[in-house]
Amino acid sequence: MLAAMDVVTAPDRRDLGDALADRLDGDCVVYEHKIFPDGERYVRVEEGLGSEVVLLGDTRPNTKIVESLIALDACREAGADEVALAVPYLAYARQDRSFNPGEGISARALCQALATGASSLVTVDLHTETVLDLFDGPTTNALAAAELSKALGEESVDLVLAPDAGARRRAGDVAGRLDLPFDHLEKTRVSATEVDMAPKELDVTGATVAIVDDIISTGGTMAKATGKLLAQGADRVLVAATHGIFAGEAEDRLEKAGVEKILVTDSVPTEHSVISCAGALSRGLRRL
Ligand code: R5P
Repeated sequence: MLAAMDVVTAPDRRDLGDALADRLDGDCVVYEHKIFPDGERYVRVEEGLGSEVVLLGDTRPNTKIVESLIALDACREAGADEVALAVPYLAYARQDRSFNPGEGISARALCQALATGASSLVTVDLHTETVLDLFDGPTTNALAAAELSKALGEESVDLVLAPDAGARRRAGDVAGRLDLPFDHLEKTRVSATEVDMAPKELDVTGATVAIVDDIISTGGTMAKATGKLLAQGADRVLVAATHGIFAGEAEDRLEKAGVEKILVTDSVPTEHSVISCAGALSRGLRRL
């Protein structure tokens, strides 16, 4: 995909839509959105779209999935033949197989639903990239390491850490861009909200440490890692992730653990979304 592309977006995503359209040399088209008294959604896109457009669609909270499905349909009603769906945070991606007999494969159900209206799909920093095999069409998983490292570059960080071995590649990429040392911690998940972290011989005395992960959900992982690092003598701990979900008491948990700063992208809009994921999305769209 190389030509200029217009970006259709929800009114509450205008900032990201504008930033993405700028990068694609297109216009940002904001759709009309209403919520009926019974909670059902309504979407209308002004007629006259080009034959190929990008729809910036969200999948969190759940109602955004329905809104995105209707918006995909509306794009076609408004003249588009091909709609590339840019989903900054692909929800349900963690249930990408049946772990127990009879379980629904949520990621497949969502990808199949999105494929009814989207010709292609771009998302950012999936935990498991193979989830995209569940979508029938071209896909890209764009990485936000460049954006995360740019933000951390302004924070006088001494060391970058991944909270577990699985996150090592991402943290290593960020550290490499900043020319900083990096390592990983040893995490064991005890339950959906509890994790344990084995002590690790790390000289963090007086250091500013950035823990880098793909997602902050309950905050358990980042909180546990922060506690260990501060106990080992770190001076400041910052946490950076692509997706900030902040489920339940996550923010409290992070504050109590002593996290000094939270930096996440606007893949899910939150008060900590200080990093734009427009760059990552545009790179992903251009790779389709
Ligand atoms: C898991 O391996 C992921 O990379 C994250 O570390 C995890 O999903 C974070 O979840 P929570 O914030 O609930 O600990």
